[in-house]
Amino acid sequence: MEDLTPNRKDLDPIEIASRDEIEALQFHRMKRSLKHAYENSPFYRNRFIEHDVHPEDLKSLKDIARFPFTVKQDLRDTYPFGMFAVPQSKLVRIHGSSGTTGKPTVVGYTASDIDHWANLIARSIRAAGGRPGDILHNAYGYGLFTGGLGAHYGAERLGCTVVPISGGMTERQVTLITDFKPSIIMVTPSYMLSILDEFRRQGLDPRQSSLKVGIFGAEPWTNAMREEIEEAFDMHAVDIYGLSEVMGPGVAQECVETKDGLHIWEDHFYPEIIDPVTGEVLPDGQMGELVFTTLTKEGLPMVRYRTRDLTRLLPGTARSMRRIEKITGRSDDMIILRGVNVFPTQIEEQILKCAGLAPHFQIELTRAGRMDTMTVHVECTPDRVDEGARAQSAKELAHHIKSVVGVSTRIEVRDPGSVARSEGKAKRVVDNRPKE
Ligand code: DLL
Repeated sequence: MEDLTPNRKDLDPIEIASRDEIEALQFHRMKRSLKHAYENSPFYRNRFIEHDVHPEDLKSLKDIARFPFTVKQDLRDTYPFGMFAVPQSKLVRIHGSSGTTGKPTVVGYTASDIDHWANLIARSIRAAGGRPGDILHNAYGYGLFTGGLGAHYGAERLGCTVVPISGGMTERQVTLITDFKPSIIMVTPSYMLSILDEFRRQGLDPRQSSLKVGIFGAEPWTNAMREEIEEAFDMHAVDIYGLSEVMGPGVAQECVETKDGLHIWEDHFYPEIIDPVTGEVLPDGQMGELVFTTLTKEGLPMVRYRTRDLTRLLPGTARSMRRIEKITGRSDDMIILRGVNVFPTQIEEQILKCAGLAPHFQIELTRAGRMDTMTVHVECTPDRVDEGARAQSAKELAHHIKSVVGVSTRIEVRDPGSVARSEGKAKRVVDNRPKE
């Protein structure tokens, strides 16, 4: 694989500034942002008053811990525009995340918010190894989802030639990759696997494709999956993280030269890790729930937003800004099986250890009597479809899961192509237990 390390002179100076400089900027911006939220969003003003805090109480960055958390339910309670800190006429764009309730969580952006977002995506693509002039195939979904348009504006800002294909129509994805010869692809990692299958179905060698870098995010994926994709396409696979409530993609990005977790763009987002049960702030290095305070957002400033994503904060490496470790999963997706906590990423890791299994999988939960059962539906590879090979792979996977994760599971090794595919975020867990 080609060395795509960006030239240091092309980085934004703040990416490699001293910690003191970064923190001074964060403090200045946090103060301004809290004041903006307090003065312009009745939601925040009331919240702060209820908690007996005032923006003036912020004397250092750590004082943010005195301010109340914001949660997804707050956005639902104020649906659609109740948390915004600018008049609706100042918003140039609305996005939303598809909730399970039918109504999306609505977020809004001013022109300045969109401008910062484009800069941060441009910075992210550059960190991933992209350059002005590169052709970028953008298979994140366009629409209310932040992935498509978020990536699009940033790719243009960097100076890339964007192919705005969005998700779906997998056959055409492969045709356009073959014909337009993009060097970069932006897509969810699970959909990249469908694109990989389609390359093979069409008799094309994915290692011969023009792709040099994949910028994968919007769902959890493991380092084992990175190796799988890098090997299959002979390309770099790096991680991009974000969430609509805080902006969209581009809150944190992994650097191609180190691939050691994602640098948070700390000049725009202040991270904390908290104990998800007590809410107490944990020191860097400890696992917990990621919380963000936005530092520059006008339309929808977020004060201590609880992401539900579990990870830890690590010191900077390729950049001075701190990193998060690859996200283990969301606390909402954690399965508690007979007292053991299980994340879909742990199952993914074990599947990728087994020869004869493809990394398409879904976890089904059922209940017989009072006993919960977890079944892993996974596909065999096309060269290992016979009964004997399947039984062997199932046994191997059950053994790995039992010894590493600590739970007994049923394994169903299914035909290639039979596990549900998604064109965006994969649905990893299907809960068929009776509702209580
Ligand atoms: O998924 C934004 C995005 C688009 C990120 C494209 C990256 C690429 P939401 O739909 O609001 O926004 O979902 C946000 O997705 O809280 C995480 O649980 C999960 N997520 C996003 N990126 C990653 C990642 C977009 N790299 C939620 N690793 C977040 C693990 C991720 N989980």
